[in-house]
Amino acid sequence: MQTPEETRTVTRTASRRSALRLLAGAAVTATAAAAGGAEAAAGTGGTEAAAGAEGHSRAATAPGTRVDDLVARLTLPEKTSLLHGASDPHTLGQAGHVPGVPRLGIPPLRLADGPAGVRVTARATALPAPVLLAAAFDPGLARRYGQVIGREGRALGQDVLLSPMVNLIRTPYAGRNFETFAEDPLLAADLVAAETEGIQGEGLIATVKHFALNNQEKDRETVDVRVGERALHEVYLRAFEAAVAARTGAVMAAYNKVGGTHAGENADLLTGVLRERWGFDGLVMSDWSATHSTAAALAAGLDLEMPDGKHYGAPLLKAVTDGTVPEAHVDRAVRRVLTVMDRFGLLDADPPPRPARDAAAGAAVAREVAEAGATLLRNERGTLPLAPGRTVAVIGPTGDRPLVGGGGSAHVVPDRADRPLDTIGARAARVTYALGEDVFGKRLPADALAPAADTDSRHVPAGETWTYDGTLTVPEADEWTFLLHYSAEPTRRPEVRLGDENLFPLAPGYTEYFPGGLVTAAPDGLAVRRRTLRLTAGRHRLRITAAGGKDGQTFRLRRITGATRAADVAEAVRAARAADDVVLFAYEDATEGQDRTALSLPGGQDRLIDAVTRANPRTTVVLNTSSAVTMPWLARTGAVLQMYYPGQEGAAATAAVLYGECDPGGRLTQTFPADGDRHPVAGDPRRYPGTHGTVEYTEGVHIGHRWYDARGVRPLFPFGHGLSYTSFAYTDPEARPVRGGGLDVSFTVRNTGRRDGVTVAQVYLGPSPDLRLDQPVRALAGYRRLALRAGERRRVTVRVTSRTLSCWDPRRHDWVLGTGRRTVWIGASSADLRLRTGADAGALA
Ligand code: BGC
Repeated sequence: MQTPEETRTVTRTASRRSALRLLAGAAVTATAAAAGGAEAAAGTGGTEAAAGAEGHSRAATAPGTRVDDLVARLTLPEKTSLLHGASDPHTLGQAGHVPGVPRLGIPPLRLADGPAGVRVTARATALPAPVLLAAAFDPGLARRYGQVIGREGRALGQDVLLSPMVNLIRTPYAGRNFETFAEDPLLAADLVAAETEGIQGEGLIATVKHFALNNQEKDRETVDVRVGERALHEVYLRAFEAAVAARTGAVMAAYNKVGGTHAGENADLLTGVLRERWGFDGLVMSDWSATHSTAAALAAGLDLEMPDGKHYGAPLLKAVTDGTVPEAHVDRAVRRVLTVMDRFGLLDADPPPRPARDAAAGAAVAREVAEAGATLLRNERGTLPLAPGRTVAVIGPTGDRPLVGGGGSAHVVPDRADRPLDTIGARAARVTYALGEDVFGKRLPADALAPAADTDSRHVPAGETWTYDGTLTVPEADEWTFLLHYSAEPTRRPEVRLGDENLFPLAPGYTEYFPGGLVTAAPDGLAVRRRTLRLTAGRHRLRITAAGGKDGQTFRLRRITGATRAADVAEAVRAARAADDVVLFAYEDATEGQDRTALSLPGGQDRLIDAVTRANPRTTVVLNTSSAVTMPWLARTGAVLQMYYPGQEGAAATAAVLYGECDPGGRLTQTFPADGDRHPVAGDPRRYPGTHGTVEYTEGVHIGHRWYDARGVRPLFPFGHGLSYTSFAYTDPEARPVRGGGLDVSFTVRNTGRRDGVTVAQVYLGPSPDLRLDQPVRALAGYRRLALRAGERRRVTVRVTSRTLSCWDPRRHDWVLGTGRRTVWIGASSADLRLRTGADAGALA
């Protein structure tokens, strides 16, 4: 008789088999595994580096020896202890820890975030956000980015890196768009392959995340993603597949559900696709606290529960002892964990030595990436580059307090971070600074509170409680932002009630623990919360309760009002008028755990930019934002430079680009919509943010720029857009079928200007006439980043791989080559197509 658990397992296996039958027989798949690397190579000639990528990971001992021997000698409690996280007695501040089994020489594993550098308590190189790295369209640079993190992770005591993240940018609202690469599957695939090789070549195990379809933060722990098989394989899995082909050691399952089942217990994904179709031989871990079951998750292919053992600790031990979970499932997961450790030499008697940090090398790469990804969106009237020796007004909070990186698990403690005000000041005749947009608030006026009280620097000693019950007088009806700065952890922050309203209620879950990067900590480190309300004139009851707890509590209650905002804007306008040039830093502070609620810049920044550009049209807006923002003020600006979160060397890179010491090398890896109503997931809540717990990807394969082309919608800035300080001509296109499959697309690029500069030549591909499938009008099929001296000309060949020429056929559950004549465009963005040619994709395949 079958136990209920066995029945479940059998049913799951049966359904998995049918899923596999659906996915089986992959003529193109064998090429596809190699295609990730081939695509990376096509971009920058990455093949040599790929060959050395396993440099530090050692050849695993012959199968059946060390790992099998260990599995045989481990006790059941020891085995289950290797399948879940536990607290680290010697923590270095990393996200996770799996204790080892010292008796058998199995060392502990330390697992650290993340995407823009190693997140531990110690300082590390804070690299530019991955979205900025991606803007360089340069897999070779992604490899070096990975090498920096790989070496630092090892130097900082880590074994596993919780990165790269490759969930595509599907909606401009998604809170983690800065942590990932692009809206385009081909570019994301190339970059993750190269970065993974870079990380692992230094001996650190990479974890590609979040598998799969974690494309929004809103309801991320519960939302059920419904996507067609075609878009799943062609679009959303492509970068994961490339990471597996690049031999990532680990995969992190996503929070969300896919087709009704949590990603962490989804056998179709974790076993059917990952192991059986792609041949993944590493370990699969859960996202943090994203495991929902014991037997089902383990059977589905989730090997490691993080960060604790809620399901794989005592419950797993009991389930095996009771006979409801076969020990073979435990052994399989343990074997996978140990196999990865063995591959990286961690089980050796003399494990690879940990290198020292090379902070200077990290900083150099951080600077190079920030310059290479700097994306000049607009440049009118010769606003940029700035001429040295003129007066400059620097305006905006991130001009003074650099926005180094995003919030949440991607936050890194930087080695250092300069102020843009200083790096610009070093090049200008004179620099003035105006805040323009207040992010930390001003003290409450003494006469506003009755009875009078100092709410600006209160310390409540341990064990004591301070209470206030009085009135706040508001002189005229106005919009007020209250700001609470406090030192205790969120659950103990002071309670502030205005009338009956609790101004700073505790938000659920991660929203509290993963606030954004810049504006959620005051310069002295106190946490900051904000609340904006419209207040009527008159007296409002104000009550504050602040508990000292066991460590004491320091807090401030501040405010921003219409009057203080107006004064800040007026000061900025005065500074703008008095200067030759203006550099206005605008920010938007995104984080995991929540999506943005608007595409506009937060606070009063739109009004500030409007006022400043009216005062001085030679204004450059530098955007320190996570993703696309709307720009109602665009036409009045001189220039707009997108720097995202530029890392610890961001100030130096920003100034170097502004002054033309280097060419702005970045191009958009996501389309910027004109407004919140015209983008791929606008206007239909079923698509985003979802209804009844479900989000439907009904746009199919038409993600990002493909959707704009399909619908004929004009974006604010198209995918691939970015200006140089020089100009380029594209001529002589030719497309030739390649023996064995693929097309070689050749063309000539000439720098026609008087400065050296960078262009990113992009190759787009039209649909196959032979496939009766809904194909993109144009899909990105290849690209080449080119640095050309003034007047220099270069003939370029970009390989379009068989995979790129193929579609996933949902009737055959397999790839099918898109034969027939394929139109090929070559251009400087998805909307700036300069050349057109074509070739028969099936000719030599
Ligand atoms: C995030 C992961 C991260 C983990 C550990 C989770 O909330 O989704 O990306 O690696 O926390 O910090």
